[in-house]
Amino acid sequence: MHSISSAPLQRFLTGITTTGTPHLGNFVGSIRPSVAASRLPGVQSFYFLADYHALIKCDDPARIQRSALEIAASWLAAGLDPERVMFYRQSDIPEIPELTWLLTCVTGKGVLNRAHAYKASVDKNEAAGNDPDADVTAGLFMYPVLMGADILMFKAHKVPVGRDQIQHIEMARDMAQRFNHLYGEHLVLPEAQVEESVALLPGLDGRKMSKSYDNTIPLFTPREQLRKLIAGIVTDSRAPGEAKETDGSALFQIYQAFASETETAGLRQAYADGIGWGDAKQMLFERIDQEVAPMRERYQALIGNPQEIERLLQAGAEKARAVATPFMGELRRAVGLRNLGSAAPVQAKGKAVKAAAPAFKQYREKDGRFYFKLLDAEGRLLLQSRGFDAPKEAAGAIAVLQQEGPAGLNDMLEIAPGVTQDEIAAALAFFNAPQA
Ligand code: TRP
Repeated sequence: MHSISSAPLQRFLTGITTTGTPHLGNFVGSIRPSVAASRLPGVQSFYFLADYHALIKCDDPARIQRSALEIAASWLAAGLDPERVMFYRQSDIPEIPELTWLLTCVTGKGVLNRAHAYKASVDKNEAAGNDPDADVTAGLFMYPVLMGADILMFKAHKVPVGRDQIQHIEMARDMAQRFNHLYGEHLVLPEAQVEESVALLPGLDGRKMSKSYDNTIPLFTPREQLRKLIAGIVTDSRAPGEAKETDGSALFQIYQAFASETETAGLRQAYADGIGWGDAKQMLFERIDQEVAPMRERYQALIGNPQEIERLLQAGAEKARAVATPFMGELRRAVGLRNLGSAAPVQAKGKAVKAAAPAFKQYREKDGRFYFKLLDAEGRLLLQSRGFDAPKEAAGAIAVLQQEGPAGLNDMLEIAPGVTQDEIAAALAFFNAPQA
């Protein structure tokens, strides 16, 4: 059942680059809120392993493979339900690099020159007196376009990301706008969603927890190792019995990210009462372990059974491609990569004769509402829609119709008198044929 007109599904999409081992900062900042969001009603979530992106910064094949396994196992152990969400691996979807090329051709080179990651490399080279592009691959330069394809392929509305990625979402928006301007309304304009309430977790040294600072606590490190790492969190030199500051205390901030408000108030009081750092670290360790232990057990089981994870990813790829393949077909036709047999024959003077192909016609009626109809190759009416409030809704219904057929759109469509289901299916097949 589709409810395009009443309550449109909000599509959320996020990629995770497969170069590292998930740490507590990734859990608090991304995995935990994403898994929670994926359970909300009215939301369709897409989570994928961005392994093509990983190649941009990592040339160690074993590490890429290991990281993909660890990240997949972490998300699943944290409660991601692959039945409910789209969970797939970027490199299993050949339509993504295909769309990357179409987007490359509508993206200004100057726009990519200004992308933060590329610009940072150039600035560094210039500061060192090197050639500006020294050691910069075209992969790094093209990074935002590949990311745009990830997002636009699945018509994501919202992309939950960290601040550093906002620029990339804006670029994806611009690509979509440019493409739509040239070829018609095909792509959905995405928006970044930066979760302000999610705390940036400090690492062992008090700076943001990040692989690049080497200050992380791996999410599923064994219990005793977790205890040791937590013992290494920097604190000040106040002795037991002296009141402690919560402001600027990495230990306190990490505790807060895992504890309830009451528990946090308890630790605040303990700070004021002069709790010793050893005891505070013990409290933090127990609190984190309490949350992580059940997931750690699932994680270990999953890591021990990589074939099962592979099977889940393959199933995810199949679901994702059921969307990506027909959509890519639509985009190929839109830009003119078409089956020559379906082209309107060109007469000597260069004027096209009437195209013998089925067509959707979108229009607005005097009642101010938006309608569409499906005509067959001879121009005969097959389907007539009812009125939609916005052109976007009509376009959404057309997309569903093209991908899934008229089932589920019953209350929005009227079949013209004398038209059979087979005739409708034949017309729709035209839009779904990969090379038509
Ligand atoms: N570039 C993102 C990061 O490093 C990962 C990513 C790749 C991504 N494709 C995406 C995130 C699409 C959101 C949407 O964090």
